[in-house]
Amino acid sequence: LKNLQIDIITSILEHSQISSQQISSKTTVTNFSKNLQEMAKYYFDQGGKLFRPTITLLMSDACSQITKPNYTGDDLIDLNQYRIAMVSEMIHTASLVHDDVIDESGTRRGAPTVNARWGNRQAVLVGDFILARATKVLCSIGEPPVISTMAEIVEDLVQGELMQLTLPPELEPVQRFQHYMTKTFYKTASLFANSCKSVAMLAGCDEKVQKDAFEYGRHLGLAFQLVDDMLDYVATSEVLGKPAASDLKLGLATCPVLYAAHDYPELNQLINRRFKNDGDVEKALKIVIGSRGLEKTKELAKEHCYAAASLYPHYIVQCEYCRFLTFIFKIISFHGYCTIYE
Ligand code: FPP
Ligand code: MG
Ligand code: MG
Repeated sequence: LKNLQIDIITSILEHSQISSQQISSKTTVTNFSKNLQEMAKYYFDQGGKLFRPTITLLMSDACSQITKPNYTGDDLIDLNQYRIAMVSEMIHTASLVHDDVIDESGTRRGAPTVNARWGNRQAVLVGDFILARATKVLCSIGEPPVISTMAEIVEDLVQGELMQLTLPPELEPVQRFQHYMTKTFYKTASLFANSCKSVAMLAGCDEKVQKDAFEYGRHLGLAFQLVDDMLDYVATSEVLGKPAASDLKLGLATCPVLYAAHDYPELNQLINRRFKNDGDVEKALKIVIGSRGLEKTKELAKEHCYAAASLYPHYIVQCEYCRFLTFIFKIISFHGYCTIYE
């Protein structure tokens, strides 16, 4: 993973393919792209947990066990699967740069956000640039069906973010929950699902295994976001390295408050007006903390962890990493606070 992080930064810092003859003022363009590249590598320099590439590489290993006879866990990972792991982190980071603009967020990973340091306009372009570099890495794989599967992630991220921004104000509780889960798939789980599917495709797995790999990532991604939404209520900004209790302030009704509204229907009014009246955020926070919303959110995350876990043991008998994956599930499902989350 350390290498992967270095390889991502290298791909960000690579020279543009335009030759010096094609550009009129070489010096100006060189300085310009140098600044852009420095800004683009900023979040990668801050570290991050590399959770998406971790899962992608583990899934690569699991799939190779199925398709490659005599495969041992010590074999080198396939270069194209490794590229998918890189791309998963690059798309994720590009989306965080844009997300911090949309959320007007000032801190991430314990440091000022790109928008806080360089302003919104530059941040939008930085996100675009990271996405462009991710596209180049992706295209180097040279497998159109895999490239198309990964491109789906970007479309889903945009769709999810748009659903979050434009939630119709008046929805019945059941529809509202459905809307939240669909949005969560687009916003978070699609990246896990399609990255897992892509490495299964590259391993030459049949369609059933590709589908299982997708479902595995989908369940894990849903669990991940559910815990993230829970942490927004219970963790401090210091632990998260980004603003806490931000969802209510942004007008967002996530799983804990949606569950709390079952027992405290007075929340419905606040949800529908997106917590915008004076005192709404404080009132909702108090009710959620005193409700079973957080516990029920954790339970739902746990169910998705188990659903993911149930997908692999059928065909992978001896897998060192599966035990590690189970370990990750346990962390996700049983401990609210852990360093895996950002
Ligand atoms: C973090 O959510 C944000 C996302 C998971 C996705 C954001 C997607 C976009 C901005 C669409 C554009 C996408 C690309 C690829 C350029 P959050 O705000 O709930 O989490 P946070 O607390 O970490 O900010
Ligand atoms: Mg956001
Ligand atoms: Mg955000």
